[in-house]
Amino acid sequence: MKLEIRGLTKRFGDFVANDHIDLTIEPGEIHCLLGENGAGKSTLMNMLYGLLDPSEGEVLIDEVPRSFATPGDAIAAGIGMVHQHFMLVPVFTVAENVMLGDESVRGGVFLNRGQATERVRALSQQYGLKVDPEALVEHLPVGVQQRVEIIKALSHNAKVLILDEPTAVLTPQEIEELMQIMRELRDQGTSIIFITHKLREVKAVGDRISVIRRGRVVGTADPSTSEAELAEMMVGRSVKLVVDKEPSTRRDTVLQVEHLTVTDPRGHQVVKDIGFEVRAGEVLGVAGVQGNGQTELVKALIGLIRPDTGVISLDGNDISGHGPRRSLEAGVGYIPEDRSHDGNVGSFSVRENLILDLYRDDRFARGMALRLDDIATNAQERIEEFDIRTESDQTPVSALSGGNQQKVVVAREFSRPLKLLVASQPTRGVDVGSIEFIHRRIIAERDRGTAVVIVSTELDEIYALSDRIAVMYDGRIVGTVTPDIPREQIGLLMAGATDTGEERV
Ligand SMILES: Nc1ncnc2c1ncn2[C@@H]1O[C@H](COP(=O)(O)OP(=O)(O)OP(=O)(O)O)[C@@H](O)[C@H]1O
Ligand SMILES: [Mg+2]
Repeated sequence: MKLEIRGLTKRFGDFVANDHIDLTIEPGEIHCLLGENGAGKSTLMNMLYGLLDPSEGEVLIDEVPRSFATPGDAIAAGIGMVHQHFMLVPVFTVAENVMLGDESVRGGVFLNRGQATERVRALSQQYGLKVDPEALVEHLPVGVQQRVEIIKALSHNAKVLILDEPTAVLTPQEIEELMQIMRELRDQGTSIIFITHKLREVKAVGDRISVIRRGRVVGTADPSTSEAELAEMMVGRSVKLVVDKEPSTRRDTVLQVEHLTVTDPRGHQVVKDIGFEVRAGEVLGVAGVQGNGQTELVKALIGLIRPDTGVISLDGNDISGHGPRRSLEAGVGYIPEDRSHDGNVGSFSVRENLILDLYRDDRFARGMALRLDDIATNAQERIEEFDIRTESDQTPVSALSGGNQQKVVVAREFSRPLKLLVASQPTRGVDVGSIEFIHRRIIAERDRGTAVVIVSTELDEIYALSDRIAVMYDGRIVGTVTPDIPREQIGLLMAGATDTGEERV
């Protein structure tokens, strides 16, 4: 199936999110879309999938103009989409989820389980998408849940499959598997529109690459184009893909963690007797495959959960279990891994979110009264400094593109003096230009004498920022190493190997 986009335009009020976009998706190609945060990629996809009404322009399928008022229309025309936030029902099985919303059974009171299971099995075999049709979705790792979404789209005979940032939440292993699935689908004639911020992935799997900047297509490239060139096409200037930094000058110990143990709500011990220290002026990177206790470690560090045992001392004072407000007042900055849950209040404006945890600060409040002018000035400065793309500082944060929401969190946390910065996946979903900027800010914070803990599943990010790297596996720190260690060694530690012959630091 050939998909042509002609002059497709989307306006939100005066703002033009897509400006006369022309693109052709050939049958059986992996077409990558690259672009800065807020460039208009998701908006374009939402129009193709019947979620947004185009202001102008048309979509042709095999030369015939088509319009989609609802996702149902798009699905009927052979377009499938996997959203970044999955829409599966956790307590249903894989097969039940795939059958849900299926036109052929809608209206029927019972799902035909046996038939559904067989159908999923057949699809899973045909496309090499390994999954157990009878497994409960809530028990599956994220990468497998995503496979279920793909099977669901294919079960409606999708000929064009849209994947909007599918790799942001996957482990390196799951990303490899997804890319293999994409190649398989392509070879069987499915076209794929693949959105990602990771240039390495684009080069590994793409057949063609289109770049969108500020709502316009600025060019199409082939995958042999270098990462530096692609970055420049996206951002419109040259980008340093790895931040320059001097060796750290370690000073006094700021954070000291001893014998920390945390149990999750289901009663599993997820952090097991951890100890480490971080000094002023250094970055400790915590590497590891998602789900090895990093999330709980971070929550304990900033007081969101109370550890079972152990000491977390900041400048010599135990702050474990004191709650987030006290940690904040003690000078702990926090960039959470899930910005929509823990980072921002979506219905509040950009301006309000930028002072969310500072509203008691003297700068913004005098007694009970908020200093509205200062709050507005602060917003303007932060928006400019962090290049937050928003119509105005009064826009609700939920209307911003994913990466720009992340920039709001980062901008706020860098707005006050910190002793300790705890950043979890600080650049998830953020474009290369903004990664460069955020990385520079983190290093500047280090150089100012802040102790920094970075938790990331991206090894590139761990290497770019860390002075020392602690690797977590199964709730424990299985090794602490310096960043001159080869990637394979870290990979071994991440997989649970305890003796890699490397010297510990
Ligand atoms: N419903 C809406 N109302 C107002 N503005 C919107 C709406 N949806 C999107 N926008 C704006 O349109 C622009 C494009 O957003 P879009 O989500 O398409 O970006 P994107 O390229 O997908 O970015 P990211 O890489 O961060 O996901 C953004 O500036 C966003 O704020
Ligand atoms: Mg998007």
